[in-house]
Amino acid sequence: MKNLDGDILIRYETPRDYEYITQINNAAFGQKNEGLLVENLRKTVLFNPRLSLVAEYKSSLIGHILFYPIKIKNDSLEFNSLALAPMSVLPEYQNKGVGGGLIRQGLKTAGELGFKSVIVLGHAQYYPKFGFEPASRWKIKPPFPVEDKYFMAQELVPGALKNTGGVVEYPVEFNEV
Ligand SMILES: CC(C)(COP(=O)(O)OP(=O)(O)OC[C@H]1O[C@@H](n2cnc3c(N)ncnc32)[C@H](O)[C@@H]1OP(=O)(O)O)[C@@H](O)C(=O)NCCC(=O)NCCS
Repeated sequence: MKNLDGDILIRYETPRDYEYITQINNAAFGQKNEGLLVENLRKTVLFNPRLSLVAEYKSSLIGHILFYPIKIKNDSLEFNSLALAPMSVLPEYQNKGVGGGLIRQGLKTAGELGFKSVIVLGHAQYYPKFGFEPASRWKIKPPFPVEDKYFMAQELVPGALKNTGGVVEYPVEFNEV
Protein backbone atom coordinates (compact mmCIF):
# COMPACT_ATOMS: atom_id res chain seq x y z
CA MET A 1 0.00 0.00 0.00
CA LYS A 2 1.27 3.47 -0.83
CA ASN A 3 2.49 5.62 2.08
CA LEU A 4 1.59 3.13 4.77
CA ASP A 5 4.35 1.90 7.01
CA GLY A 6 3.50 -1.76 7.39
CA ASP A 7 1.12 -4.31 6.03
CA ILE A 8 -2.60 -4.06 5.57
CA LEU A 9 -4.54 -7.23 6.21
CA ILE A 10 -7.76 -7.66 4.25
CA ARG A 11 -10.03 -10.27 5.81
CA TYR A 12 -13.70 -10.96 6.27
CA GLU A 13 -15.63 -9.66 9.26
CA THR A 14 -16.24 -11.42 12.55
CA PRO A 15 -18.71 -10.36 15.29
CA ARG A 16 -16.04 -8.48 17.24
CA ASP A 17 -15.67 -6.13 14.22
CA TYR A 18 -19.32 -5.05 14.06
CA GLU A 19 -19.11 -1.85 16.12
CA TYR A 20 -15.89 -0.75 14.41
CA ILE A 21 -17.42 -1.30 10.95
CA THR A 22 -20.30 0.99 11.91
CA GLN A 23 -17.84 3.60 13.18
CA ILE A 24 -15.75 3.48 9.98
CA ASN A 25 -18.87 4.00 7.87
CA ASN A 26 -20.04 6.86 10.09
CA ALA A 27 -16.65 8.57 9.91
CA ALA A 28 -16.15 8.10 6.16
CA PHE A 29 -19.63 9.25 5.15
CA GLY A 30 -20.09 11.82 7.90
CA GLN A 31 -23.55 10.42 8.65
CA LYS A 32 -25.09 7.29 10.14
CA ASN A 33 -27.05 5.95 7.15
CA GLU A 34 -24.41 3.63 5.71
CA GLY A 35 -23.37 2.16 9.06
CA LEU A 36 -27.02 1.48 9.79
CA LEU A 37 -27.47 -0.05 6.34
CA VAL A 38 -24.66 -2.54 7.04
CA GLU A 39 -26.20 -3.39 10.44
CA ASN A 40 -29.62 -3.94 8.88
CA LEU A 41 -28.32 -6.02 5.97
CA ARG A 42 -26.35 -8.18 8.41
CA LYS A 43 -29.66 -9.35 9.90
CA THR A 44 -30.92 -10.69 6.54
CA VAL A 45 -30.52 -14.23 5.22
CA LEU A 46 -28.68 -13.19 2.07
CA PHE A 47 -25.91 -11.45 4.00
CA ASN A 48 -22.63 -13.32 3.62
CA PRO A 49 -19.88 -12.33 6.08
CA ARG A 50 -17.31 -13.48 3.54
CA LEU A 51 -18.41 -10.56 1.38
CA SER A 52 -18.12 -8.06 4.24
CA LEU A 53 -14.39 -7.33 4.24
CA VAL A 54 -12.35 -5.21 6.59
CA ALA A 55 -8.91 -3.65 6.20
CA GLU A 56 -6.82 -4.07 9.33
CA TYR A 57 -3.71 -1.98 9.97
CA LYS A 58 -1.61 -2.33 13.10
CA SER A 59 -4.44 -4.24 14.83
CA SER A 60 -7.05 -1.54 14.06
CA LEU A 61 -9.77 -1.55 11.45
CA ILE A 62 -9.43 1.30 8.94
CA GLY A 63 -11.67 0.27 6.05
CA HIS A 64 -14.72 -1.80 5.13
CA ILE A 65 -16.51 -2.99 2.00
CA LEU A 66 -19.74 -4.92 1.58
CA PHE A 67 -21.05 -6.87 -1.39
CA TYR A 68 -24.71 -7.83 -1.17
CA PRO A 69 -26.79 -10.04 -3.51
CA ILE A 70 -29.25 -8.24 -5.79
CA LYS A 71 -31.30 -9.07 -8.87
CA ILE A 72 -31.50 -7.56 -12.32
CA LYS A 73 -35.07 -7.98 -13.57
CA ASN A 74 -36.81 -7.47 -16.87
CA ASP A 75 -40.31 -8.36 -18.05
CA SER A 76 -39.59 -12.07 -18.39
CA LEU A 77 -36.31 -12.90 -16.65
CA GLU A 78 -34.23 -12.18 -13.59
CA PHE A 79 -30.50 -12.51 -13.03
CA ASN A 80 -28.45 -12.71 -9.84
CA SER A 81 -25.77 -10.15 -9.27
CA LEU A 82 -24.01 -8.39 -6.39
CA ALA A 83 -24.10 -4.77 -5.29
CA LEU A 84 -20.88 -3.21 -4.03
CA ALA A 85 -22.25 -1.00 -1.24
CA PRO A 86 -21.28 0.62 0.94
CA MET A 87 -17.51 1.00 1.11
CA SER A 88 -15.59 3.24 3.48
CA VAL A 89 -12.08 4.09 4.55
CA LEU A 90 -11.34 6.19 7.67
CA PRO A 91 -10.65 9.77 6.48
CA GLU A 92 -7.07 9.79 7.81
CA TYR A 93 -6.26 6.64 5.78
CA GLN A 94 -7.87 7.63 2.48
CA ASN A 95 -5.90 7.88 -0.77
CA LYS A 96 -3.38 5.29 0.35
CA GLY A 97 -4.69 2.37 -1.67
CA VAL A 98 -6.78 0.82 1.10
CA GLY A 99 -10.04 1.14 -0.85
CA GLY A 100 -8.42 -0.39 -3.92
CA GLY A 101 -7.20 -3.33 -1.85
CA LEU A 102 -10.69 -3.92 -0.49
CA ILE A 103 -12.27 -3.78 -3.94
CA ARG A 104 -9.75 -6.17 -5.52
CA GLN A 105 -10.02 -8.71 -2.72
CA GLY A 106 -13.82 -8.40 -2.73
CA LEU A 107 -14.06 -9.00 -6.47
CA LYS A 108 -11.79 -12.04 -6.14
CA THR A 109 -13.84 -13.49 -3.29
CA ALA A 110 -17.11 -12.81 -5.11
CA GLY A 111 -15.82 -14.73 -8.12
CA GLU A 112 -14.69 -17.62 -5.92
CA LEU A 113 -18.17 -17.75 -4.35
CA GLY A 114 -19.71 -18.12 -7.80
CA PHE A 115 -21.01 -14.60 -8.39
CA LYS A 116 -20.75 -13.58 -12.02
CA SER A 117 -21.12 -9.81 -11.93
CA VAL A 118 -21.04 -6.76 -9.65
CA ILE A 119 -22.99 -3.49 -9.79
CA VAL A 120 -21.94 -0.26 -8.12
CA LEU A 121 -23.42 3.20 -7.76
CA GLY A 122 -20.69 5.70 -7.03
CA HIS A 123 -17.77 7.88 -7.99
CA ALA A 124 -17.39 7.84 -11.78
CA GLN A 125 -13.65 8.56 -11.57
CA TYR A 126 -12.91 5.86 -9.01
CA TYR A 127 -14.57 2.54 -9.84
CA PRO A 128 -13.46 2.34 -13.51
CA LYS A 129 -9.91 1.85 -12.16
CA PHE A 130 -11.10 -1.54 -10.96
CA GLY A 131 -12.84 -2.67 -14.12
CA PHE A 132 -16.28 -1.09 -13.76
CA GLU A 133 -18.02 0.44 -16.79
CA PRO A 134 -21.35 2.23 -17.12
CA ALA A 135 -24.05 -0.42 -16.70
CA SER A 136 -25.90 1.15 -19.62
CA ARG A 137 -23.45 -0.78 -21.80
CA TRP A 138 -25.51 -3.88 -20.94
CA LYS A 139 -28.85 -1.99 -20.79
CA ILE A 140 -28.88 -2.41 -17.01
CA LYS A 141 -30.67 0.44 -15.27
CA PRO A 142 -30.95 1.66 -11.68
CA PRO A 143 -34.39 1.76 -10.03
CA PHE A 144 -33.98 5.53 -9.52
CA PRO A 145 -32.90 8.35 -11.80
CA VAL A 146 -29.14 8.83 -11.85
CA GLU A 147 -26.67 9.91 -14.49
CA ASP A 148 -25.34 6.99 -16.56
CA LYS A 149 -21.73 7.37 -15.53
CA TYR A 150 -22.43 6.82 -11.83
CA PHE A 151 -24.20 3.50 -12.27
CA MET A 152 -21.61 0.89 -13.19
CA ALA A 153 -21.17 -2.84 -13.58
CA GLN A 154 -18.49 -5.39 -14.27
CA GLU A 155 -18.47 -9.00 -15.36
CA LEU A 156 -16.53 -11.42 -13.15
CA VAL A 157 -17.09 -14.07 -15.81
CA PRO A 158 -16.67 -12.87 -19.40
CA GLY A 159 -20.04 -12.47 -21.09
CA ALA A 160 -21.99 -12.86 -17.83
CA LEU A 161 -23.98 -9.65 -18.37
CA LYS A 162 -24.78 -10.31 -22.02
CA ASN A 163 -28.55 -10.13 -22.50
CA THR A 164 -29.24 -9.34 -18.85
CA GLY A 165 -30.70 -5.91 -19.58
CA GLY A 166 -33.22 -4.84 -16.97
CA VAL A 167 -33.66 -2.89 -13.78
CA VAL A 168 -31.65 -3.59 -10.63
CA GLU A 169 -33.74 -4.45 -7.59
CA TYR A 170 -32.14 -3.54 -4.28
CA PRO A 171 -33.35 -5.08 -1.01
CA VAL A 172 -35.74 -2.90 0.99
CA GLU A 173 -33.04 -2.16 3.57
CA PHE A 174 -31.46 0.19 1.04
CA ASN A 175 -34.62 2.34 1.01
CA GLU A 176 -34.94 2.44 4.78
CA VAL A 177 -31.82 4.46 5.58
C1 LIG B 1 -14.12 6.27 -1.78
C2 LIG B 1 -13.17 5.63 -0.75
C3 LIG B 1 -13.78 4.34 -0.20
C4 LIG B 1 -11.86 5.30 -1.49
O1 LIG B 1 -10.97 4.66 -0.60
P1 LIG B 1 -9.43 5.07 -0.60
O2 LIG B 1 -8.70 4.12 0.26
O3 LIG B 1 -9.33 6.52 -0.26
O4 LIG B 1 -9.07 4.86 -2.14
P2 LIG B 1 -7.71 4.43 -2.79
O5 LIG B 1 -6.58 4.94 -1.96
O6 LIG B 1 -7.74 3.02 -3.17
O7 LIG B 1 -7.79 5.23 -4.14
C5 LIG B 1 -7.57 6.59 -4.09
C6 LIG B 1 -8.01 7.18 -5.41
O8 LIG B 1 -9.42 7.36 -5.37
C7 LIG B 1 -9.71 8.68 -5.66
N1 LIG B 1 -10.89 9.07 -4.88
C8 LIG B 1 -11.07 9.03 -3.56
N2 LIG B 1 -12.27 9.54 -3.24
C9 LIG B 1 -12.85 9.91 -4.41
C10 LIG B 1 -14.06 10.54 -4.74
N3 LIG B 1 -14.93 10.91 -3.81
N4 LIG B 1 -14.33 10.75 -6.04
C11 LIG B 1 -13.46 10.41 -6.99
N5 LIG B 1 -12.26 9.85 -6.73
C12 LIG B 1 -11.98 9.60 -5.45
C13 LIG B 1 -8.51 9.47 -5.26
O9 LIG B 1 -8.45 10.68 -5.98
C14 LIG B 1 -7.37 8.53 -5.63
O10 LIG B 1 -7.04 8.63 -6.99
P3 LIG B 1 -5.55 8.25 -7.53
O11 LIG B 1 -5.34 6.80 -7.23
O12 LIG B 1 -5.64 8.54 -8.99
O13 LIG B 1 -4.62 9.12 -6.78
C15 LIG B 1 -12.84 6.57 0.42
O14 LIG B 1 -12.31 7.76 -0.11
C16 LIG B 1 -14.05 6.89 1.30
O15 LIG B 1 -14.30 6.20 2.27
N6 LIG B 1 -14.77 7.97 0.96
C17 LIG B 1 -15.95 8.38 1.73
C18 LIG B 1 -17.08 7.40 1.59
C19 LIG B 1 -17.41 7.11 0.13
O16 LIG B 1 -17.51 8.03 -0.69
N7 LIG B 1 -17.62 5.80 -0.19
C20 LIG B 1 -17.90 5.35 -1.53
C21 LIG B 1 -19.30 5.63 -1.91
S1 LIG B 1 -19.52 5.32 -3.66
